[in-house]
Amino acid sequence: MGRPTATPTGHEILWPDTSIIVSKTDTKGIITYANPTFQKLAGYTDEELVGQPHNLIRHPWMPRCAFKLVWDTIQTGHEVFAYVVNMARNGDHYWVFAHVTPTFGPDGTITGYHSSRRVPKRDAVELMTGLYASLCEEEAKYASAKEGMEASTKMLLDILSSKGTSYDKFILSL
Ligand SMILES: Cc1cc2nc3c(=O)[nH]c(=O)nc-3n(C[C@H](O)[C@H](O)[C@H](O)COP(=O)(O)O)c2cc1C
Repeated sequence: MGRPTATPTGHEILWPDTSIIVSKTDTKGIITYANPTFQKLAGYTDEELVGQPHNLIRHPWMPRCAFKLVWDTIQTGHEVFAYVVNMARNGDHYWVFAHVTPTFGPDGTITGYHSSRRVPKRDAVELMTGLYASLCEEEAKYASAKEGMEASTKMLLDILSSKGTSYDKFILSL
């Protein structure tokens, strides 16, 4: 099936703050589990999700540097929190506040990853919408994706350091 062909509609799906979206992946980000809430919101069946790369629901409003930060953190065995806007099958979007963690095997090696997501606060969504738009704009200035990501990562770190904070502190303060 690969990446979705839908184009973003700009319509936000608001979801219940009593729900939790859960997915698990292998070490490469291939979905191995998707809970019914995930299936319903994203608009895919279990069979359509399991076995697909998690970027199936990637929204173009997400800057590359945000995913790099997530992957760099979980691949080194740490947990990370992130605000993510995802795209449903029909092009609508929904915001989540995600907690992503590595899963370890008996020998201590990473065997996969787990993400649980709650409904984010509206203030945080508004702030992150603007921040991600600026980071995407920065990335778009570069012909190479790698250079764009390096520039947006620098931009993010500069913003955080100008506020005298770290990524973790900033995200958890929203
Ligand atoms: C456990 C886990 C959950 C993830 N959840 C999402 C998600 O909800 N939405 C998303 O766009 N990417 C998610 N990702 C990141 C994707 O694997 C991928 O890095 C991202 O979609 C960027 O894709 P791209 O490199 O094709 O641009 C998740 C990764 C892991 C390991």
